[in-house]
Amino acid sequence: MRRHKVFLFGALALCVLSLLQYCKALHHMLMLRELYTSSVNLEALGFLWRGNVRSDTGLWEPGDDREDQGNAEVERRTGHGGEDPWRKEQPDSGNVNRMTVTLPDPKGPWGELHKRSFHLRDDPTPFFAHTKSGAYCFREGTEMAFLKDDSGQAAREGQRKILHAQQEEPNSAQGKYARGKRLVKCICRQGWHGPHCGIPTMVQHSNLPTKARLTLRKVPRRVINAININHEFDLLHARFHELADTVDLFLVCESNFTAYGNSKQLHFLRLLLNGTYNYMRHKILYIFLDHFPKGGQQNGWIADDYLRTFLSYDGMSRVQGARPDDVFLINDADEIPAREGILFLKLYNGWTEPVSIHMRKSLYGFFWRQPGTLEVHSACTVAMLFAVYNGDGISLRRRDYFSMPGFRNYQRESGHILVHWSIGSPVHYAGWHCSWCFRPEGISHKLISAQNGDFPRWGDYVEKRDLNYIKGLIRTGGWFDGSVGEYPPTDPKEPMYAPKYLLKNFPLYRYILENPYA
Ligand SMILES: *[C@@H]1O[C@H](CO)[C@@H](O)[C@H](O)[C@H]1NC(C)=O
Ligand SMILES: *[C@@H]1O[C@H](CO)[C@@H](O)[C@H](O)[C@H]1NC(C)=O
Repeated sequence: MRRHKVFLFGALALCVLSLLQYCKALHHMLMLRELYTSSVNLEALGFLWRGNVRSDTGLWEPGDDREDQGNAEVERRTGHGGEDPWRKEQPDSGNVNRMTVTLPDPKGPWGELHKRSFHLRDDPTPFFAHTKSGAYCFREGTEMAFLKDDSGQAAREGQRKILHAQQEEPNSAQGKYARGKRLVKCICRQGWHGPHCGIPTMVQHSNLPTKARLTLRKVPRRVINAININHEFDLLHARFHELADTVDLFLVCESNFTAYGNSKQLHFLRLLLNGTYNYMRHKILYIFLDHFPKGGQQNGWIADDYLRTFLSYDGMSRVQGARPDDVFLINDADEIPAREGILFLKLYNGWTEPVSIHMRKSLYGFFWRQPGTLEVHSACTVAMLFAVYNGDGISLRRRDYFSMPGFRNYQRESGHILVHWSIGSPVHYAGWHCSWCFRPEGISHKLISAQNGDFPRWGDYVEKRDLNYIKGLIRTGGWFDGSVGEYPPTDPKEPMYAPKYLLKNFPLYRYILENPYA
């Protein structure tokens, strides 16, 4: 009898254990399935396809390389120099155990902040509204007089204008279509285009190949913006305000190591906890990188890349409810996308991926504007992030997606043809890249923290860290190598001079809006 009991208990325990295992596996499966259902076949992900698309389809010949070279000189100055000199052959990347993550004691001063997960929800914002006549228009891009919720005089005037529009274009396709019925049309404000007035000029004038096939989404995509932060705290305010109603989740990664490998304070965490970013706290997922990658000290590019890898791995693993067609957007802290372009990605179907952003380039502040734009691969769908880039944000920032193993499978599975395009154009900015935009103390600090790979490493020279020397550079737009920049004059009133929030609070951010030493 006794033996029987022991046996029964043993069997029961075994049952419970296997049930637990099963639940865990099921949970993972459900999570993965949620992520991939509509466009990615899980089995296909296991299949590593290592062909060279470049050689067998001329289509994806990297036409962008030309721009790469053109940008190279300015890029060096802007701290973006040769983001990835190693391309695919990262000699030491095998040493970086990217999956092993040790996080600090949950009972420590920062509690569980770095372990929390975030559940993405649908954005209920009514971005569109019906007009009296039944058109469906993007509120912000449409003359208000047409919107239904403007009653009385305004609405009547709107009706008149609609009729007027009909008379103006009696022969247009839309006119014919609407004959007999009332014309259903949105009248766009300046800067907005398309039948629903939801396409901003920076997309209208972009090289998007599918402009004619764009359709409105019923439910907006959720946008996840991932960044690494050091001490770009004012630019972070600018980002949060710029993208407040567009981004659904900010993944903000901070490390207690500098890119050089030294110990560093968690300044962002302190500000997060003391309320500095309270207005955005509900959308921030704090990511803590508590280790330095192996080989990062000898080769600074490893450290540089690893920041983005960890940011996207750890960050995305803590996001729940992501859908394959949600948007993943990765930036450096000094790259701020303009709201309108990202909102377009959120509200429309039919654009191709990956997506770059043409950013206005400036040095020390917005006043030293450099020629051309900085064009960085910054966004793709969550499905593409995992199927093509293996969930690694640094791969997205590289330009050679067509040689990634999952590329062909993803095209086949999703039915999308991957064609890279850029929001904005060389003459229409779709964001800002403000490099070294700090007070002199911040610039000196950045020099010391800089990674060990972008040579010469100016932080190694005492005289280059001198505040008076740095003030001189800001005054003249000079660079640490002794060269003096030649910049066209700028005016804070010019379009896209700086993110709107900074301009709105001009006195507070004067030091990066106007040359303080001129
Ligand atoms: C960073 O934090 C981790 C975990 O708390 C700790 O083990 C490590 O020593 C810290 N590194 C530095 C340089 O402070
Ligand atoms: C938070 O801390 C920073 C830096 O110590 C300080 O400048 C700021 O005023 C503090 N903010 C609040 C809301 O206490």
